[in-house]
Amino acid sequence: MIIRREKKGDFNSINDVNKQAFKQNNESELIKRIRASKNFIPDLSLVAEVNGKIIGHILFSNINIIGVEDYESLALAPMAVLPKFQKKGIGGRLNKEGLKKARELGYNSVIVVGHQDYYPRFGFERASKWKIKCPFEVPDKAFLAIELKDGALTEKLGIVEYPKEFGIEV
Ligand SMILES: CC(C)(COP(=O)(O)OP(=O)(O)OC[C@H]1O[C@@H](n2cnc3c(N)ncnc32)[C@H](O)[C@@H]1OP(=O)(O)O)[C@@H](O)C(=O)NCCC(=O)NCCS
Repeated sequence: MIIRREKKGDFNSINDVNKQAFKQNNESELIKRIRASKNFIPDLSLVAEVNGKIIGHILFSNINIIGVEDYESLALAPMAVLPKFQKKGIGGRLNKEGLKKARELGYNSVIVVGHQDYYPRFGFERASKWKIKCPFEVPDKAFLAIELKDGALTEKLGIVEYPKEFGIEV
């Protein structure tokens, strides 16, 4: 299996992976909107490929944390692995390689709304640890963040601003 940056020819497969994993279209539509926006980072839309077939995808895009000052961060959303390839470590590889790439590119931190039993294994912790708030109702244990540089979230307290492509009404 290889993990690589998405290419134009991958778009349909990426949609398909997301539709099958989430059993709905919302996430593939979100990816399309992000890809068309200024917040899209081509280097951080990664696919997992086996024998030329795309079986997983992860996307990180720009967001801001609005506090005393505004800080740039990344949102991890969405990520998906085809159902029949799940629980084989593919999601783990996508996460680790995505975080590594984001660190190499100089990004400071990542925010994710997701499963509390899953993301901590990659180093995510409750965002409330840094007094970072979510703009919508979410359990504290599911609103998570990771520093890509030591201390990157120290005193960055504020509220995450999701760009309009996320379609979040606050
Ligand atoms: C979440 C997802 C990407 C993980 O991919 P994967 O390739 O199966 O992940 P890995 O093989 O690296 O890890 C599997 C582990 O994740 C856990 N996991 C998967 N989905 C989980 C969930 N919803 N809640 C908690 N743990 C979950 C599995 O139980 C397994 O745990 P184990 O290692 O203790 O057995 C995949 O399950 C998926 O596409 N799910 C549907 C879409 C989704 O929910 N995306 C995440 C949105 S936040």
